[in-house]
This record gives sequence, C-alpha cells and structure tokens, in this order.
Amino acid sequence: MLFGDVSEELARRLVKALRHVTDFEPPSVLVRVSAQSGVDYQCDLAMSLGKRLGKPPRQIAADIAARLDVADIAEPPEVAGPGFLNFTLRSSWLAERTTALNGDPRLGVAAAPRPRRIAVDYSSPNVAKEMHVGHLRSTVIGDAIVRLSRFAGHEVVPHNHLGDWGTPFGMLIEHLLDERPSGPYAIGDLNGFYRAARSKFDTDEGFATRSRERVVLLQSGDEETLSLWRRLVDESTRHFTQVYELLGIGLASEDVYGESFYNPFLAAVVDDLGTAGLTEISDGAVCVFPDGFRNREGEPLPLIVRKRDGGYGYAATDLATLRYWTEQRGVTDLLYVVGTPQAQHFAMVFAVCRAAGWLREEHRAEHIGFGSVLGEDGRAMKTRAGESVRLSDLLTEAISHAAEVIDDRADLSPEIREEVAKAIGIGAIKYADLSGDRERDYVFSWDRMLAKSGNTSVYLQYANARIRSVLAKADQDLTGARVLLGHPAERALALALARFPEAIGAATAGHLPHKLCTYLYETAVVFSRFYEQCPVLEAEGPGVRDSRLLLAELTSRTLTLGLSLLGISTPARL
Ligand code: ARG
Repeated sequence: MLFGDVSEELARRLVKALRHVTDFEPPSVLVRVSAQSGVDYQCDLAMSLGKRLGKPPRQIAADIAARLDVADIAEPPEVAGPGFLNFTLRSSWLAERTTALNGDPRLGVAAAPRPRRIAVDYSSPNVAKEMHVGHLRSTVIGDAIVRLSRFAGHEVVPHNHLGDWGTPFGMLIEHLLDERPSGPYAIGDLNGFYRAARSKFDTDEGFATRSRERVVLLQSGDEETLSLWRRLVDESTRHFTQVYELLGIGLASEDVYGESFYNPFLAAVVDDLGTAGLTEISDGAVCVFPDGFRNREGEPLPLIVRKRDGGYGYAATDLATLRYWTEQRGVTDLLYVVGTPQAQHFAMVFAVCRAAGWLREEHRAEHIGFGSVLGEDGRAMKTRAGESVRLSDLLTEAISHAAEVIDDRADLSPEIREEVAKAIGIGAIKYADLSGDRERDYVFSWDRMLAKSGNTSVYLQYANARIRSVLAKADQDLTGARVLLGHPAERALALALARFPEAIGAATAGHLPHKLCTYLYETAVVFSRFYEQCPVLEAEGPGVRDSRLLLAELTSRTLTLGLSLLGISTPARL
C-alpha cells in the first residue's frame, strides 16, 4: 500500500489480526491519528475487549500485535499504557509515499469504491426576497459538500429548491401590476418590494381580495397570471445568479427545481398517501401522523399534506420532491443543506416517505443542518436599521475590506489587486462559514475572518503564496526528485501530507467541511515550523534541496486542492 488512507489501512490489517483473537465485530473507527510525539496512530480496541474476553487489555493488545502484519508500513506496534496499540510509520515508507505523491493529482486520496448518486438541495432562496445570511451558509456549505462528494467520485446532482410558489404570489403579482402595469420589471430592492406588498395586503381590503383571487388564477394556470409570475421569478433568479457568480458557486439556472416544479405531482402525493392508508383528516386538513413525533404535550404531530382550503404547503412539496428524486431521477442519497430550525420538518418528511415506500432500504436521506450567523452582539445578524443584511452588500463589503488588507502592496498591478481582493474577501466569508462545526452558531466578525494569523483563509492563502514564491525563486524541475526525511521537521511535514486522505474522508463522509479546514490549518503550521528549521533554497547535502523543494511543492498543492474543495481560490501572489 502506498496511497490512500493510512488509518483505514492499519484498521484493515487490525481486523485481519483480530479474527485470530476473537470473533467480535470491531467498531467502524479502529485507528485514530495520535497527537502524542513519536506515535503516529493509535488503536484503543483492546481496552473495550478486556471485559468481553475476560483478559487484561494489555495482553489482548499484545496478542493482536503478534498477529498483525504491518511491517511494510510501520515499525513493530507497541503496547502502551492500559492497552493502547501505538503505531509509528516507517520513515523510509513515509519518504517513499511522499515522493510518489508528486505524480498523483489526487495527492493520495482514493476514490469511493462504490460511487453513489447524490442529490444535494442547497441555497434554495425565496423569490421576491433578498437572499439572507442563512441562505449564504446553505450556499457555501452546500457548495463545499458538492465539491467534496464529486472529488470522492460520486455523481452529484445539485438542485436549488427555489421558493417560487404559494399564496404570497397573489399579493406580489397584484403589487407588480399596481407599480409597473407595463414593463420594465426590474425590482431593485426585493425586500422593499415584498414588504410593500405585504403591508398593502394587511391594510387594504380590496387589495387583499384581488390577491386571493390572483392565487386562484395562478393555481389554475391562467396564462396572463403565469407570465406575470414568471417575470417575478426571472427577476429574482437574475439577482441570485449574480450572487452565485460573485461567490464562484456553480449553481446555474438549469439547477433550479423550484417549488413550482413539483406542483403537478402534489395531487398524486396526497392520493397515494391516502390509498396507502397513511392519511387522516384533522381539522379539515389532510394530515399524516408519522410514528414517533409528538409535541410538548405528548400529542401526535401532524405533517399537513393538504390544508383546509385545499391548498398544498411546504411539506407536501417536500414529499413530492423526495419522491421525484428517488423514483424519477434514481438518486441513492438526498442531502438537504438547510438551517437547523427545519430539522423536525425534514425528519417528519423522511419518516412519511419511508412509510410510503418512496425512501427505501437502499436510500439515504439526510438533513445537513447548520446554526445561525450572529452579529457581534450575539444576536441574529441585522443592519444598523434593524433589517436583515443584504447578501450582495455583504459580499461587496468583504471585497473592500480585503482590499484594505493588501493596501500596502504597491507592487501589485491594479488588476491583480482586484483579483486578489476578491479571492481574499470571498474566501474569508466562505471560510468563516466552513471552519467551525456547522451545527453551531457563529459570530460574524470582519476582523476575525480577515486576520492574517490563526485558522483563517487569509492565513492559508498567504502560506501558500509564500511557498509559491520560494518555488518560483528556485525555478527547478522537480520530476524525479526524491523526498528525504533526515530532520524531524521534515518527517512531521511528510506525516501531515500523508494525513490528507483522512481529512478529506472525515470532511466528506460526515459532511463536515470544518475537519478539512482544521487539517489545512495544522498542515500550514507544520510547514512553517519546517521552513523555520530547515533551509530550503540554501539546503546542503546531496538531494536535500530537491527534497525540501518537493515537500514545499506538495504542501502548496495540498493547500490549493484542499481550499479548492471548499470553493476558495489561492492566488499565486499575495
Ligand atoms: N426556501 C426555504 C427557506 O428559505 C428553504 C428550502 C429548503 N429546501 C427544501 N427542500 N425544503 O427557508
């Protein structure tokens, strides 16, 4: 074994050895990266086996070690403490592996053995409303998940579940007619437009009646109404596309599968649930009460599939959506990157789809939740006027802050400066969204996200650019160069590079991009220690300069690939 995930490989070997010791089915994670100096990987299985086998864990560990065949990769494993098995990679093997990485564009990461077909629902803003910071998180996290899953070799179908249908469109269309009876239909301020329509709806009885009639027209497919509706959708989509372009997100208009797309499927969803005996009428509404969902009073919770007035809501649309993607598009996995407040909604939708047979054994459906973006006061992020922050303003501001960060760089041409400011600003916003555990809220702070030190994208971008400039100075062809690991800092760097597949694996499997961020940051830190201790351009000794240049090159490629999987670019000059 030369490439792939070292801890997985050690685990495979352990499982083989374990079969000689017990028939116990081992847990899925057997081997962990160790932070202890001199120990690269560790296994604590013997401790949990102690009771089961009625033997001291140290003896079990020794029995496993005696059967274990890892000599090609690691030194003989050591039994330590209460019964740990400690592994230290052989430096000669590590050097060989690192050398070989030079020819591998995947930097040692193996592709998934069984590719899946994954539908990812992300971004999903609402028509005639500005995208807000919650949609930004969904967009950024979703994009990273799409990139990571594709890199793993899965087939990924992104889709944008645009909120483009439902009762608010009655009032929006009427307002559009009042304001702009004949084109052009540009709506500069989407939030203002929505608010004005809403306030007329609440105060003007005549307008409210017209709006309700308009909803009926829309739902019955009236041509004129549909074309007005389309203008609203197109105008909003134009705005969203601008945001995606600025962010460098690959969501295109063909990825839009808005709520309206599923409208034709809704009646069948309700009928088929009824035929399957899953529905009940409650308060005049058609409901499903999936097992195991109760409110605070302990009463069963309904998922409303058809409202009293005969209309279908958000839940019915999500049932139709899921069914469409499994039955008509043949996806195996469904991921929904949506804020944590919707966790229960998705859990109920999944439960109903399981009961209806639209989600089967072979399917996986997962809600990828995330916390809120908070202002520096610790409350939901708002503008000074108390309004929700417009995403386009936020991104523009990020780029201008980033321009300040590189203010002192008179040597960069205006075009390069602009490009770099964009890479830094957009990178900072994305990295702030990605580098913390997504389940947690995070506080939005320009100072923190644009800091040149610490776990930030700017730090990583600088680290990479510094390496690129050393490599440019050396201007050396590194094909055929070999890695030598004479110095402990060289070995530490090679070990960090060997752990890239583990970081990618953890970030991809758990949909946890922050694990990749942490890894990239740690690797950059290990590199800077190496660079302090090991002269590169002035290296002495046969082959040492080439080896160190190659280590630098591989570090830069690791940072670049890692950041690109998070959607962040790495300018060569900063
Ligand atoms: N438009 C919704 C919102 O802004 C998010 C939709 C998420 N996707 C879904 N299939 N429900 O809250």
